[in-house]
Amino acid sequence: MKVLVVGGGGREHAIVKKLKENKEITSLYVLPGNGGIARDATCVNIGATDLNGIASFAVENGIDYAVVTPDDPLVLGAVDLLESKGISCFGPSKAAAIIEGSKAFAKDFMKRHNIPTAAYETFSDPEQALAYVETASLPVVVKADGLALGKGVVIAETREAAREAVRAAMCEHKFGHSGEVIVIEEFLTGPEVSILAFTDGKTIVPMVSSMDHKRAGDGDTGLNTGGMGTVAPNPYYTDAVAKECMKTIFLPTIRGLKAEGRMFKGCLYFGLMLTPNGPKVIEYNCRFGDPETQVVLALLKSDLFTIFRAVTEQRLSEVPVAFSDGYAACVILASKGYPLSYEKGFPIVMEQDAQPHVLIAGAKEQNGRLITSGGRVLGVIGTGETLEKALDTAYARVKKISFANAFYRSDIGARAKKATEA
Ligand code: AMP
Ligand code: GLY
Repeated sequence: MKVLVVGGGGREHAIVKKLKENKEITSLYVLPGNGGIARDATCVNIGATDLNGIASFAVENGIDYAVVTPDDPLVLGAVDLLESKGISCFGPSKAAAIIEGSKAFAKDFMKRHNIPTAAYETFSDPEQALAYVETASLPVVVKADGLALGKGVVIAETREAAREAVRAAMCEHKFGHSGEVIVIEEFLTGPEVSILAFTDGKTIVPMVSSMDHKRAGDGDTGLNTGGMGTVAPNPYYTDAVAKECMKTIFLPTIRGLKAEGRMFKGCLYFGLMLTPNGPKVIEYNCRFGDPETQVVLALLKSDLFTIFRAVTEQRLSEVPVAFSDGYAACVILASKGYPLSYEKGFPIVMEQDAQPHVLIAGAKEQNGRLITSGGRVLGVIGTGETLEKALDTAYARVKKISFANAFYRSDIGARAKKATEA
């Protein structure tokens, strides 16, 4: 079979490596991919949001199956377009992807279906939003409605910071159309858990839980990033919590989407906060998380392509989805300055034994060498019977990799380790 993956980050590299375990796949293309993925598959320089380019490539090359991973093409309707050309896909339709594409939609959806989430108000008029800010209790959370590269959320500690966030989104159009509508919501507290779940619209199968580390600096300091590292499983996500989430969040979500004519087929991501009043949804994503996927797939024992096709054909309940009992950790090596501006073009040096455990996010090939080309450059994976072993293995491998201006967090998994010891 000829398979196409749309995307080009560390998450896609992890998916590609896993797909390669399936011997039915004879050709594997990635659009656009990156320099590291090119060592595992055929990368073609067509951007992930060039929907017509992707569809033409798929038709001209006789692609049998497409996996669409990033948020933008999903929200734009890449799956609908590919399916209209007769190509089977893994990923939700545009109608279902709105669960990530519009935070206002997601919040109203949760209200309609009694799914626990932070209390909120939605605004399309800046004057009304500014008036609301004057009476809201602090801290207060201001979110741009649409996709904003993970930068559309401000946790305002002061009223002035909240006003500033409203003005930036609604008056200065910092996020373009994405900030024309905003959600202002209650600030919640508690450990965060990421749950990726396979769903075919009828059945939902949560994968092993994970914990992201979003801030750039050690001790959760610095700016929010796309994610600086992950561990799986997440020790806060006990069996009792999992049971409660299935009942109050996961099943109501897929049933609600189905009832509203937005049947979700693909990977549904639940960003949860375990508050003193129970688990609540912070956000939905219509796709695999990055870098959650890197640790979750490191523990997946079952065949990924078999699961993908079962999702497409709505027979997910018939296939095994099994994970190892151990732990996995991923440490991201980024370019100094990320998530703001950074230099690129530096050669990456890796000792050979570390290479199989590295997933490339932002690097390109030049004269047979990988050079940095993005903010998040690569992720280094470690697995082990205990969280400590997984982390030690990942960090030992980090020491075998170098490039100019590299930085990484040295405390990935520290909070999770404390939780396992408690
Ligand atoms: P999001 O892009 O919606 O995932 O938000 C980014 C991060 O902001 C989340 O991972 C949380 O750490 C934080 N956050 C978002 N919403 C809230 C909230 N209502 N209360 C507390 N923290 C939040
Ligand atoms: N790591 C968070 C995300 O993928 O949105």
